[in-house]
Amino acid sequence: MKKEILKMLKETEGYVSGQELCDRFQVSRTAVWKVIRQLEEDGYEIEGVRNRGYRLTGCPDGLTEEELGSAITGKWAGRPVFYYPEVTSTNDLAKRLASEGCPHGTLVTAERQTAGRGRRGRAWMSPKGESIYMSLVLRPDLPPSSASMVTLVAAMAVAAGLKKAAGVEGQIKWPNDLVVKGKKICGILTEMSAELDCIHYVIIGTGINVGQKEFPPELADRATSLLIETGKPVNRCRLAAAVMEAFEEYYEKYEKAGDMSLLMEEYNRELAGAGEPVRVLAPEGEYSGRSCGIDREGRLLVDREDGSREAVVSGEVSVRGLYGYI
Ligand code: BTN
Repeated sequence: MKKEILKMLKETEGYVSGQELCDRFQVSRTAVWKVIRQLEEDGYEIEGVRNRGYRLTGCPDGLTEEELGSAITGKWAGRPVFYYPEVTSTNDLAKRLASEGCPHGTLVTAERQTAGRGRRGRAWMSPKGESIYMSLVLRPDLPPSSASMVTLVAAMAVAAGLKKAAGVEGQIKWPNDLVVKGKKICGILTEMSAELDCIHYVIIGTGINVGQKEFPPELADRATSLLIETGKPVNRCRLAAAVMEAFEEYYEKYEKAGDMSLLMEEYNRELAGAGEPVRVLAPEGEYSGRSCGIDREGRLLVDREDGSREAVVSGEVSVRGLYGYI
């Protein structure tokens, strides 16, 4: 009944009368009032006026099943949403749900992570309420070798979401960091369960810095948030929904082609440092060159000083711009 009452309040511009709610759900006025109180405890602002009824005046900025679930308008990405106030890592929860058989498109969100993980074994700071922590479960019908491209698709979706929900133009640091004015605003950790020839599932874990006012000194020159960049609070729910919608669109193009050929032009437009000097840190040694954008396999093409061209595969190497974080 709580979900239905919330839906009615959301869909009605003016007041919903108490009597109408009682008739609709065949319950007493006290029962309706109790649900209204629960909604207020969840962070909804509801005005109650004698002889008129109830009117919704504010919604919490949460990533809950109710809020995010109703903000997402696509067909499958972010359906269903599982929300937790606190988890070790949303990737852990997503993996558990995936191994229990949850559908392609399931999204796990959390308010806080106690053991948020970054790439290369690093920790991902995950304080309460300031960021988006979400992990999407995918079940691609593609060979495991194609999975690394999904992470590039996710970066494009975050770039589109930042533009739509916050008016911020992010750039992609290959393969999948999002940067604004040279500082990192989003990181993506992709994990996979697969056999030699088939993928069981892929987890795309995304952390977006939204409401941090500042970062600790050791990160301040490399990290930023939407609040720092825009000076305004950004609604996390709208942003997460915009990312899911964009992901669905891009992923369908990726799936159709089986590679990045339908997306690489747009990806390369959003790539930070395209045409600029880079240093590639590969296991077999370091070298310098010029970044020339990705190819259809999502590899970064680097023209070396000796005139040869390398196609750099993500996961094997680290690529740095010669100056600054990117
Ligand atoms: C990186 O840039 O190193 C990747 C950071 C990924 C962080 C996100 S937050 C949601 C999901 N859960 C995790 O533990 N990590 C990812």
